[in-house]
Amino acid sequence: MSVRKLGRGVALVGAGMCKFGAFPEKASRDLFVEAYKEMGRSVDKGFDPKAIETIYIGNYSSDLFERQGHTAPIMADAVGLCPAPAVRIEDACASGGVALRQGVMAIASGMYDMVLVGGIEKMTNLPTAEVTDTLGTAADTLFEIPAGFTFPGFYAAIATAYMHKYGMTPEHLMNVAIKNHENGSLNPNAQFGVTIPDWMKGRVAAAIKKGKPAPAWQTVWDFLHDDGANPLVAWPLRLFDCSPISDGAAALLLVSAERAHEFSEKPIYIVGTGQASDSPLHDRADLTALPAAHLAAQQAYEMAGVTAKDIRLAEVHDCFTIAEIVATEDLGFFAPGEGFKMAEDGVTARTGAKPINSSGGLKSKGHPVGASGVAQVFEIWKQMRGEAGPRQVPGDLSLGLTHNVGATGNTCVVHVFEKK
Ligand code: COA
Repeated sequence: MSVRKLGRGVALVGAGMCKFGAFPEKASRDLFVEAYKEMGRSVDKGFDPKAIETIYIGNYSSDLFERQGHTAPIMADAVGLCPAPAVRIEDACASGGVALRQGVMAIASGMYDMVLVGGIEKMTNLPTAEVTDTLGTAADTLFEIPAGFTFPGFYAAIATAYMHKYGMTPEHLMNVAIKNHENGSLNPNAQFGVTIPDWMKGRVAAAIKKGKPAPAWQTVWDFLHDDGANPLVAWPLRLFDCSPISDGAAALLLVSAERAHEFSEKPIYIVGTGQASDSPLHDRADLTALPAAHLAAQQAYEMAGVTAKDIRLAEVHDCFTIAEIVATEDLGFFAPGEGFKMAEDGVTARTGAKPINSSGGLKSKGHPVGASGVAQVFEIWKQMRGEAGPRQVPGDLSLGLTHNVGATGNTCVVHVFEKK
């Protein structure tokens, strides 16, 4: 395919998210209002909401999670933006990233100058079994779900194939969880904003308070190998290899590049976008990579005129720990079979050579599926503007990337961001 270019430049001039977690007292529209207001506060020079011309909302399944279909105009109304046209984008867990891509294309085409991109999901209304069932509708429901697969099961199959091919062990997966919880402990918006050592201390304190014997863990590895504290979900994936069930929302304000300085002295430009599709997992010859992620990344790099090496930090789709390892290879950061070694060696740590998921990733920050791809951009915005506080990645963050995956890589979408 020939290299595609944006018809004109697109800039990000505002970004916000609500805290992720479980909020039984709130509807998704309440969370979206919080994210939108936070986005509004982030626009350096302010903006007129009436100037927003169209709205794209990433949402996987408000129908099944909340019994609310036709979500986009509900969100537009909640933030006072009717009658601007509002469109819901559904591409499973990649809904948010694909909503961003629609926003980018709407501006690049010349059709609009100012676009709101949002992402929402309210998953915790349902018990875990029903959430698992609902998420399962994003897989192939004719062949995969009747065979007994669930999402932890799919990623367990990917992990098993990867272990077999490259000699990775379950402990290598745990390195990803340890790192992402460390990063998430510095993120006030994270659902599980606590390091694993602090989580252990909390468990010990709770046991003592209840008059029960305190667990005898000496190290984080004792905790992560304890079947009681970190039970197997689908071998080799344990509880701490999984992203949680979450509620959350995020919002972004995009404008045409030529108008960016009306709104901000520090806009972040979206210089590359790529998206690809793939067959369901059961139809793939190799489970150890997601070809659509590789293709999406190539498109985004070519459009931006950069290579994987140039990217200074990335938010990748770690719905399970194995997914982060595979993502860092699909994106070309590391060679196939090297990703788990880089996580072990600290290369992907916040202060490493290739910082991955400084936000805590989906693992620690939470994964309200339709919001995740938009919230990834919030982190890149904060980091590239030097506003990430205690979790600030050091150095000159000239180029950032987001990688968002639907299901088992049936949809993959990648964006490249530049600070000029
Ligand atoms: N990581 C760490 N701890 C977690 C956790 C996670 N992902 N999910 C829940 N917990 C903790 C809870 O805080 C709770 O701790 P507490 O007892 O100290 O309060 C405990 O585990 C039990 O929580 P509960 O909500 O009852 O867990 P669950 O067994 O119902 O659900 C999973 C756990 C892993 C099954 C669920 O989070 C899950 O399905 N995750 C994957 C979601 C998914 O597939 N997303 C789409 C990806 S493509």
